[in-house]
Amino acid sequence: MKKENKILIIDCGSQYTQLIARRVRELGVFSEILFWDSPIEKLRASNPAGIIISGGPRSVLEADSPSIPDEILHSDTPILGICYGMQLLAFKLGGKVKKGDYAEYGRAAVKIVKDAALFKSMPETDCIEVWMSHWDEVVSLPEGYSATAFSENGALASFQSPDARVFALQFHPEVAHTKRGKDILSAYLFDICKCSADWQLGNSWIDKEIEKIREQTQGGSVLCGLSGGVDSTVSAVITQRAVGDKLHCIFVNHGFLRKDEGAQVIEMYKSLDLQVHYVDAEARFLKALEGVAEPEKKRKIIGELFIRVFEEEAAKLGGSDWLLQGTIYPDVVESGHSGGGVIKSHHNVGGLPEDMKMELLEPLRDLFKDEVRTVGKVLGIDKHFLERHPFPGPGLAVRCLGTLSKERLDVLREADAIFIEEIHKFGQYNKIWQAFCALLPVRSVGVVGDVRTYGETIALRAVSSLDAMTAEWVHLPYALLDAVSRRICNEVPQINRVVYDVTSKPPATIEWE
Ligand code: XMP
Repeated sequence: MKKENKILIIDCGSQYTQLIARRVRELGVFSEILFWDSPIEKLRASNPAGIIISGGPRSVLEADSPSIPDEILHSDTPILGICYGMQLLAFKLGGKVKKGDYAEYGRAAVKIVKDAALFKSMPETDCIEVWMSHWDEVVSLPEGYSATAFSENGALASFQSPDARVFALQFHPEVAHTKRGKDILSAYLFDICKCSADWQLGNSWIDKEIEKIREQTQGGSVLCGLSGGVDSTVSAVITQRAVGDKLHCIFVNHGFLRKDEGAQVIEMYKSLDLQVHYVDAEARFLKALEGVAEPEKKRKIIGELFIRVFEEEAAKLGGSDWLLQGTIYPDVVESGHSGGGVIKSHHNVGGLPEDMKMELLEPLRDLFKDEVRTVGKVLGIDKHFLERHPFPGPGLAVRCLGTLSKERLDVLREADAIFIEEIHKFGQYNKIWQAFCALLPVRSVGVVGDVRTYGETIALRAVSSLDAMTAEWVHLPYALLDAVSRRICNEVPQINRVVYDVTSKPPATIEWE
């Protein structure tokens, strides 16, 4: 059977798995992720040109640690093991892995064998800077295999099989700190797997997708819940191109939007020719949340009421055959395999009513966020809108700590608008994954013009991140923090103290609730 021009990534639990998938796509080859314990039929059906086995936090020496079926290991498909993936390959193929005496974590230099297939494109160097993150190490190779790179202390950093089908790297080529990571992945994709670079998200992808939506919906009506976010907007615009006025969009304003946001997004939807039914449900949401301070309770109430309001509005439109959702690839992967317990219930994933009569339409379910932005740009959606920071479904309700009231939400809206405005002025907006204010129900004493004040506290939050799974707090310039603090205290009289959140994720999460 002819292999498909794509790479299958088998996820053994690494925090970098989605990054591997994105890097492969950036090089022009479609990639998909399946978990190591997926049914064999699913792995077989993928039929990729190459397989990458990801890293992972476990040790191959432990019982029940992630593994891959022998059928996959011994097929004729080229395999690349990364980190845990390398140890797994060595272990399963008859090599030896031992618990390292210490963890090797961070930047490291690696000596490479120049004519090895993965390193062929860098004849000018025999040493590359890489990103390591492992504890165990491979101490002896499977029979006939050759070592193709070594750490400074002589530890094995890469190997390949004699038939040049199995390859392994102890370090992470997908991480930006690995200077030649892109060249190494390119060698694997194009020289070894013989892939062609045909994954592009221009007009031809859009035309194909439009055709697919037409075929799927067969003239049926489509309903879409718009959130003001990038994913639902791009989904709606592409679907509108496919089905025209058979698409009806509903925008529920739950009252937890940012300053002027409702009016701005409605204006933008109009300019994109979307048929939007606007529902002002602010009073209903505030009533349902009266006296509620517990974060999970807030989220549950908002999620449930949101669906109720949406259903009522849909009924007014006479129902629909299809429900359009802005599901993107990370939602699909994450909701398919939740590791630990629920940290926060995100109401846009898995929150659909069980008795839903409509079929789901998810045109973006194969795309990463940056790919959705690319499609949005080609569709003519305003750049500033596409570059907006992510915003949680429950909106300011999870940034206004304690009980909610219109007054407190307005205070938060004012402070947040100032923070974002100053971030733009200082040219920092696009360097940040997400920035916002949280209003804390903590009152402290201040003094303004000889008069004692007793106001609430604004916490500023700005993080950098690749995928929101982990995040670092951003070292914003002091001058920016100073300007924001002065403006908030001057312009928002209810606030007399501004603090900056210097916690990364983990241990904190990005949102405060
Ligand atoms: P946390 O706070 O869990 O957030 O670190 C990770 C990312 O998810 C966003 N977030 C949400 N997005 N519905 C959403 O669509 C939600 O209920 C929700 N809660 C958090 C958050 O803003 C961050 O980007």
